[in-house]
Amino acid sequence: MNIIDIINKKRINQELTRDEIEFVINGYLDDSIKDYQMSSLLMAIVLNGMNDRETIDLTDIMLKSGDIIDLKKIDGIIVDKHSTGGVGDKVTLVLAPLLASLGIKIAKMSGRGLGHTGGTIDKLESIEGFNTTLDEEDFIKQVNDINIALVSQSDGLVPADKKIYALRDVTGTVESIPLIASSVMSKKLASGADIIVIDVTVGSGALIKNIDDARKLAKLMVKIGKAYRKPTICIITNMDEPLGYSIGNSLEVKEAIDTLKGNGPSDLLEVVITICSIIIGAVKKISNEEAKDILFKQLNNGEAYKKFEEFVEAQGGKLDSIKVSDKVFSIKSDKSGYINKIDAYKLGTIAKNIGAGRSTLDDKIDYEVGLVLNKKIGDYVEKDEELVKVYLNNKDISISEILECYKIDEELETIPKVILDIVN
Ligand code: URA
Repeated sequence: MNIIDIINKKRINQELTRDEIEFVINGYLDDSIKDYQMSSLLMAIVLNGMNDRETIDLTDIMLKSGDIIDLKKIDGIIVDKHSTGGVGDKVTLVLAPLLASLGIKIAKMSGRGLGHTGGTIDKLESIEGFNTTLDEEDFIKQVNDINIALVSQSDGLVPADKKIYALRDVTGTVESIPLIASSVMSKKLASGADIIVIDVTVGSGALIKNIDDARKLAKLMVKIGKAYRKPTICIITNMDEPLGYSIGNSLEVKEAIDTLKGNGPSDLLEVVITICSIIIGAVKKISNEEAKDILFKQLNNGEAYKKFEEFVEAQGGKLDSIKVSDKVFSIKSDKSGYINKIDAYKLGTIAKNIGAGRSTLDDKIDYEVGLVLNKKIGDYVEKDEELVKVYLNNKDISISEILECYKIDEELETIPKVILDIVN
């Protein structure tokens, strides 16, 4: 078999056999297939896609490329939640301790930023001392002791995805339904949870831009889950504007903390409560309304935040050390009117370019930088009123580029829904 033949086959939109996919994954892992060849094949997959059979084979081969975690030593039902990524998406930072505070076991491996989207592990690493690499024994012990551990994908877990994910991030090959489905599901299946819940984000700030593609991706992941007899639920959420107000690592941790203390932005809260109530409903067999009451109580009585503190401390993080840059610029609106659109993709890209994300494999993240929105879609803004605060360190921004992210009109258009569909 030859990698160039396989690239050419996908380039002319032909179906790859399981053996060919296996040859590619094994070859990339043992370095006989080079980054430039893999990028070329990934781009052909982005452009021509894969059918369900190819995607399920790719998932299975990636899943078997490394360790499969056995979580049987954890008592109780274990839930794993994943997001297909977005701008300002700090859902996991709120959801995981909130559920853990209610006795649900969260044994979760999270990812780093991808493309213009942020990653939970980068956000957690903005907390000084936070250790995202527990060994399996400590990981299991921590979940048994305090119900929650959140780590980065270990080298042994789906190494094929780890290597391909990093390559996709810097080669413009992120936005692809089969690549996203196989990447997410190989990791989730290898991680050993009993229930898999996936937040499929859709909109300008997400990897998937329209609802039809989001439904396709959700159905495909549910189908893959079923093939392994793992209950898999996908919640499709709107990512046409950033989630919450903050974009950037430390800034997002701060917003997650506010939310855990009961002061969260309404869109973030709606996503967290919807996903958590589905999980609590499934685990505790109670109604959605009962689950929501319990969840709000947990946010307002301080228990969810207490669990977050316990979890951060258990992994070595120092919460009082979270730092944001003190070089802050205020961007003011150049007109009055209703905000009808905020381009989350462009704002995410601006945040990445000032240091909140990576543009090459070796880039180091600047945890202190980012953006904090002052207004969301549907709000009225006066001319010269603040639209965004920019936290900078050593990169520059263009004011006009930020203003171009906003569509401001005299009339208010429709305010988008946050939860768009549930697929299971
Ligand atoms: N999250 C993942 O784990 N993989 C993707 O490809 C996209 C989002």
